Amino acid sequence: MASSSTASMIFLSFALFVFPTFERASCAAAFANATCIETERDALLEFKRGLIDNSNLLSSWVGDDCCSWKGVRCSEQTGRVLKLDLRSPCVVSTYFYDEPFDPVLEHGNCSLTGHIHPSLIELQHLNYLDLSWNNFSRTKIPEFLGTLSNLVYLNLSNSFFAGDIPLHLGNLSNLQYLDLNSFNDQTVSNLKWLSGLPSLKHLDLSGISVRNAQGWLQSMSMLSSLQFLGLALCGLPNVDPAALQVNVSTSLEFLDLSRNDLGSVIPNWLLNLSSIRHLYLASSFAGEAISFPTEIINNLHQLAFLDLRDNSMRGNPFSCLQNTLRYLDLGRNKISRLGDEIGYFKNLEYIDLSQNSIESPIPESLPQLSSLKYLFLSDNKLTGRIPESIGQLSNLEYIDLSENSIESPIPESLPQLSSLKYLFLSNSKLTGRIPESIGQLSNLVQLHLSNNLLKGVVTELHLANLSSLTYLDISSNELAIKIDPKVVAPFQPNSICMSYCKVGPQFPTWLRAQRNVRELDLSNANISDIIPHWFNDISFNIEILLLSSNELSGEISLCNMKSLRVSDLSNNKLSGTFPECWKRVVLSGATRQCLQWEFPQMLEHYD
Ligand SMILES: *[C@@H]1O[C@H](CO)[C@@H](O)[C@H](O)[C@H]1NC(C)=O
Ligand SMILES: *[C@@H]1O[C@H](CO)[C@@H](O)[C@H](O)[C@H]1NC(C)=O
Ligand SMILES: *[C@@H]1O[C@H](CO)[C@@H](O)[C@H](O)[C@H]1NC(C)=O
Ligand SMILES: *[C@@H]1O[C@H](CO)[C@@H](O)[C@H](O)[C@H]1NC(C)=O
Ligand SMILES: *[C@@H]1O[C@H](CO)[C@@H](O)[C@H](O)[C@H]1NC(C)=O
Ligand SMILES: *[C@@H]1O[C@H](CO)[C@@H](O)[C@H](O)[C@H]1NC(C)=O
Ligand SMILES: *[C@@H]1O[C@H](CO)[C@@H](O)[C@H](O)[C@H]1NC(C)=O
Ligand SMILES: *[C@@H]1O[C@H](CO)[C@@H](O)[C@H](O)[C@H]1NC(C)=O
Ligand SMILES: *[C@@H]1O[C@H](CO)[C@@H](O)[C@H](O)[C@H]1NC(C)=O
Repeated sequence: MASSSTASMIFLSFALFVFPTFERASCAAAFANATCIETERDALLEFKRGLIDNSNLLSSWVGDDCCSWKGVRCSEQTGRVLKLDLRSPCVVSTYFYDEPFDPVLEHGNCSLTGHIHPSLIELQHLNYLDLSWNNFSRTKIPEFLGTLSNLVYLNLSNSFFAGDIPLHLGNLSNLQYLDLNSFNDQTVSNLKWLSGLPSLKHLDLSGISVRNAQGWLQSMSMLSSLQFLGLALCGLPNVDPAALQVNVSTSLEFLDLSRNDLGSVIPNWLLNLSSIRHLYLASSFAGEAISFPTEIINNLHQLAFLDLRDNSMRGNPFSCLQNTLRYLDLGRNKISRLGDEIGYFKNLEYIDLSQNSIESPIPESLPQLSSLKYLFLSDNKLTGRIPESIGQLSNLEYIDLSENSIESPIPESLPQLSSLKYLFLSNSKLTGRIPESIGQLSNLVQLHLSNNLLKGVVTELHLANLSSLTYLDISSNELAIKIDPKVVAPFQPNSICMSYCKVGPQFPTWLRAQRNVRELDLSNANISDIIPHWFNDISFNIEILLLSSNELSGEISLCNMKSLRVSDLSNNKLSGTFPECWKRVVLSGATRQCLQWEFPQMLEHYD
């Protein structure tokens, strides 16, 4: 989730000087070390009674000294409770590069449920309240939180609140951080109350419907200290761009307006965001084709993160972008050209141009992107060669060039990419042999080369050091497989797909060393053999077994395959009867069909 993850980064950089009192110890030494105030302790206990704490997160909340309870911080001078941090410990850490808006809500045992007891009002000195990622069971955010007038930081994100945001939050005149980011049914009927929060630096209302809040932008423009504004998926109304001539805080560093319907005109006020570093506008603009907002982007000299995914944009983005850029997502647009100017963006770590209409050859300058970690160019009409010097990109972790018309061999330099984890080159026109040196990519997790024009023999050398590999798909090429079974490779993937490869004529004996296989596709693999007995030893893990269109004979012992979900054994010469044990297997449609062809008597068990 782009907004909250970036939020935490930004927050970290401010935290030290915004809340110095929490950590300071030495200055207070002259005073007696004050302990918990009784009324505040009682208030906390009352608050605790309103919560359901199945995972014992508040087990330390016993005894007199509430200042030593988990999540509670007091003033050393006065003993007053200043900070209550009950953020769920199960918040899944997210990174910049995660798919936005797929928050992993690992609530389960790790969160508090129940409701917020009004006793919290007693904590009048509280300046920090974090209840994020708990489960307040779709209740409304309580109005009385608006009386905690010393609050500087309020985080209620992803806590399963529902209903209207209380306007009372507008009484929190000291607030600097307000995070209400949530993906439940929350609404806000007007935003005028924001004018009561003149110190606000960080405001995240992502996921909350502001559809009925008139003048949302005017309300935002009152916030002259604002640095972070999250308004993703807020149902922002499609307003007349002329009405958008307002002052938006020029100190804004982060703006997320993704997944709103802003019409087909890029608002002019974006021009004035001279400090902006993060600009997220994915799925924001409707309309058949809008031009890339060259003049706006040209003005944003600090821009480091730009997300314009899924907007039907045309034009050449690279003419105006600054090389301060680290993250660029232009996936699902209508960009038709990718030229050598891409080499200029030496700070790019992430670039996504997948699902566009790029018809040019892969730029020779691509290997100059020396910071690059993630490269997504799939589903275009890229032609030409993968530059041989791509091996220079020593930080690359993820390459997706699949679904293109690339006509080159796999570069010999590829194995120099020692950080590489994901390599997607399927559905293109790659030619030649797979370099043996690919087997040295010991960090590689997935290798996808299916549906190309690759030739030659795949041997144990190709797999030698693929010790991290979980997924191998080399199906539908012109490859023969000759792996020496005596070589015990560290190669132990979960998925092995070699359909339409020449694996046979013998049943592959190297499979015997495989212990982790869950998906095995050896259909159309030119195997004319009896299923060997040892296959039972490796097959108990298998969930997907595709062996159709070979000349397999003998019996296959399906009783052993306790995990089997899908199988296709059709078009072979298998014999035997299907065992009782298969009664418990839930048949997929495809499997049912295969059985109908091969073993109609078997189906009686299922009807
Ligand atoms: C609020 O808490 C969530 C985690 O629960 C965190 O990701 C987010 O950055 C916090 N917001 C602020 C403004 O610190
Ligand atoms: C307060 O507590 C700290 C740490 O427990 C201790 O070092 C200090 O001496 C105490 N100060 C007083 C005045 O008791
Ligand atoms: C919750 O706790 C129970 C018992 O401690 C455990 O079996 C279960 O896996 C936990 N669930 C989650 C989602 O962590
Ligand atoms: C939140 O709590 C309610 C019970 O109060 C429960 O029904 C619901 O499943 C919980 N939601 C999550 C995501 O844990
Ligand atoms: C707080 O805000 C509400 C709604 O905006 C208002 O009715 C109420 O009078 C305010 N309370 C205080 C103490 O200012
Ligand atoms: C815009 O900002 C300027 C300077 O801060 C101020 O004078 C002006 O009134 C503001 N305009 C609007 C529409 O808020
Ligand atoms: C916004 O930028 C435009 C063009 O640079 C400028 O003319 C205008 O005065 C700016 N508006 C504000 C409120 O700064
Ligand atoms: C595999 O890795 C080891 C240790 O990194 C190295 O010594 C060996 O040469 C590598 N083998 C191949 C075939 O690359
Ligand atoms: C194996 O391939 C050869 C030609 O490459 C073909 O003649 C033969 O029928 C194939 N056998 C199987 C079992 O597919």
